[in-house]
Amino acid sequence: MALLRVGVLASGRGTNLQAIIDACKEGKIPAEVAVVVSDKAGAQALERARKEGIPAVFVDPRGFAGKEEYEQAVVDVLKRHGAELVCLAGYMRLVGKTLLDSFPNRIMNIHPALLPAFPGLHGQRQALEYGVRYSGCTVHFVDEGCDTGPIILQAVVPVFDTDTEETLAARILEQEHRIYPEAIRLFAGGYLHLEGRRVFIREGKK
Ligand code: GRF
Repeated sequence: MALLRVGVLASGRGTNLQAIIDACKEGKIPAEVAVVVSDKAGAQALERARKEGIPAVFVDPRGFAGKEEYEQAVVDVLKRHGAELVCLAGYMRLVGKTLLDSFPNRIMNIHPALLPAFPGLHGQRQALEYGVRYSGCTVHFVDEGCDTGPIILQAVVPVFDTDTEETLAARILEQEHRIYPEAIRLFAGGYLHLEGRRVFIREGKK
C-alpha cells in the first residue's frame, strides 16, 4: 500500500508530531510525515522534523496581509509536498476557510479533553477546575469552529484528588500519543466514514 502523505501543522514542542513520526517509522501506520509547517520560528516541532530529515517550514503569519493570504501560503507548502492529510498537533490558530476548502474532511486535530467538554485553551485546567472525575483527549476532524468537528477517537483518563494541571496533562498526553497515530492509521486505511457529524469506523469493508 502506498504511504499516506501527512502534513503536520504545529506551533510548539511537538510531542504529538514525534509520536506520529515514530509510529510511521515503526511501520505501525501506512503513512509518512511529508512536511512540518509552523507559525512559530522557534517551535521545537520544527527542530524535531529537521532531526528526522523531514522538510520543516516556518511560515510567518506577520508576513501576510491577512489570514487568507497566510493560509494560502501554508496550503502552497502542504501541496508542494504532496500532503493528503493535514494533522494539527499543537497548532495554536483557528483554521479558516482557505485551509478547510483546500483539504475538505482531510484536516484532523487533537484536543486534550473529552469534547464537547472544555474546548479552547487549557482543556486540562478547565477539567480540573470544573471538578470532573474523568477527562481525556479527542481526535476530531476540523471544521470552522473551535474544537467542534466530527469526533474520530477519544480516550478517557481518571482525574485524581492529588492532580495538578501538570500531572493531569501528562496522563492525558500519554493517551494523545496513542490515539493520534491510531486515527491516522484508520484514515490511511480508508476506514473512516463520515455521515453528518458522526464518524463510523469500518475496518475491513471500505
Ligand atoms: C497537546 O496537549 C494537544 O492536545 C494540544 O496541544 C498540545 C500539543 O502538545 N492541541 P505537543 O506540541 O504535541 O507536545
